Amino acid sequence: MARKKIALIGSGMIGGTLAHLAAKKEMGDIVLFDIAEGMPQGKALDLSQCGPVEGFDAKITGSNDYADIAGADVIIVTAGVPRKPGMSRDDLLGINLKVMKAVGEGIKNSAPDAFVICITNPLDAMVWALREFSGLPHNKVVGMAGVLDSARFATFLAWEFDVSVKDVNAFVLGGHGDTMVPVTSYTTINGIPVDDFAKIKGVSADRIDEIVDRTRKGGGEIVGLLGNGSAYYAPATSAISMAEAYLGDQKRILPCASYVDGKYGLDGLYVGVPTVIGAGGTEEVIEIELSDEEKSNLKVSTDAVEELLEACKGLDSSLA
Ligand code: LMR
Repeated sequence: MARKKIALIGSGMIGGTLAHLAAKKEMGDIVLFDIAEGMPQGKALDLSQCGPVEGFDAKITGSNDYADIAGADVIIVTAGVPRKPGMSRDDLLGINLKVMKAVGEGIKNSAPDAFVICITNPLDAMVWALREFSGLPHNKVVGMAGVLDSARFATFLAWEFDVSVKDVNAFVLGGHGDTMVPVTSYTTINGIPVDDFAKIKGVSADRIDEIVDRTRKGGGEIVGLLGNGSAYYAPATSAISMAEAYLGDQKRILPCASYVDGKYGLDGLYVGVPTVIGAGGTEEVIEIELSDEEKSNLKVSTDAVEELLEACKGLDSSLA
């Protein structure tokens, strides 16, 4: 059986980390693409030379030509500009929308059968725009954010309770912005609802609220610490778990920015929802019961995403 092909559009810090993870896991052969000449080729050469040490068989190549992504099974898009301290993800809309146009056209022309995972910010608007520009079916284009946001929530909870991260099942819905909705009613510690577990451990409701707030601002905290750039290890590992779910037809239920049309009262919007990922791409959006407060928080978050889509349409008339 031919090896799978993974194309990484954008060869910066996340792209390089993605390539390393995909190679270590022998997910397939890897093409690192970037418009910067030499950079993807240099990273590909460096990463290839990890192979003998780490014992992986993966052909890793660098390219500046979309023709080289032809036949890709999975494409992960990180192209675009990261935010700087003091900026919001939304401040990147204008610049990254232009990047999505070029990437979407590149995918349409060279790899229209791929499953495409977008990481570029502002995430929910960029995955929507990438889908529009590429013309791929909605189930083959998805955004990575919920896995990352839930991982952040789980990490902070595990630290607070001094338990293994493996036992924390955290749940975040909505857009990948400061209005995202960490949902405590669906968050459990090895099956025990988090609010009950907090009582057992003597952790106050205010403290859980602080953790929710830290989760919402989790990306910005790292941007502030790094000073120049944004998170890359956890975003990369989150996208790899989504790619593995697709390639292995795992039917995992992962929180992702999926196309929601009808469920959650939404009308054709990409936003973070629990999604079954298997060989059919995003096979099903799972609609869960929410309390009135959770519903109204989700509405604030989805309204913010809708505003960004309007801004995209204003910037590029082909989207209107
Ligand atoms: C993240 O959450 O780490 C990314 O969306 C990058 C950012 O700007 O926060």
